Amino acid sequence: MFPTLTLEATAYNRSQLVFPEAPQAALAGRSNVGKSSLINALAGRRQLAKVSSTPGKTRSINYYRLNDSPAFLVDLPGYGYARCSHEERRKWQGLLEHYLTRTTGLTVLILLLDSRLEPQHSDREMAAFALAHDLPIIGVLTKTDKSKLREREAARRAWEVLLGGAPLLDVSSHKKVGLEDLWERILAAVGPAAETAPGDAL
Ligand code: GTP
Ligand code: MG
Repeated sequence: MFPTLTLEATAYNRSQLVFPEAPQAALAGRSNVGKSSLINALAGRRQLAKVSSTPGKTRSINYYRLNDSPAFLVDLPGYGYARCSHEERRKWQGLLEHYLTRTTGLTVLILLLDSRLEPQHSDREMAAFALAHDLPIIGVLTKTDKSKLREREAARRAWEVLLGGAPLLDVSSHKKVGLEDLWERILAAVGPAAETAPGDAL
């Protein structure tokens, strides 16, 4: 059985960042790539994280606790979203960068890429940032229910080069494809404590 996810904290600014040392896996990717939908699919719930077809929905850092363990799955605001003010974009980017550089417990970055698109400039920057900081990566190709095999293969080839040998999974949150494999990799990264279901005897 997959761990239960419970929203524990939301950060809109640096002072609200919590649990920097707790083991955590974070979901990063361009706006609208499907991060919040993936949180819901991993949780097996429809409306745990807010989803929208309008890019720029998640503007905060959201911490979801795994069972009653010390570990978290973290939903990050999307990057590469052009249609907001320069000031607002600067603020989110600063928050994102602060989170990524100050969270010592961050054990893996789950990098999402739309399986219909080749990596964009901001995707390249994010992958390069993770590699430069020695952050382990799990690559995820999203919305595979919508992509053609040819598109998906092109995205995969381009993404593989950027990820420097990191695993790359095909996932559809809508069709619930690839979730088990992703959970296994997340749990391997954040530690076995997270696998304990609430109420389980230790
Ligand atoms: P921001 O919060 O803006 O950064 O976006 P996000 O990455 O959290 O994306 P979100 O989960 O809100 O999804 C964006 C849109 O993509 C919504 O309309 C979702 O319904 C759609 N979507 C997400 N996952 C899938 C999927 O697996 N298949 C399909 N077909 N659509 C998806
Ligand atoms: Mg979101």
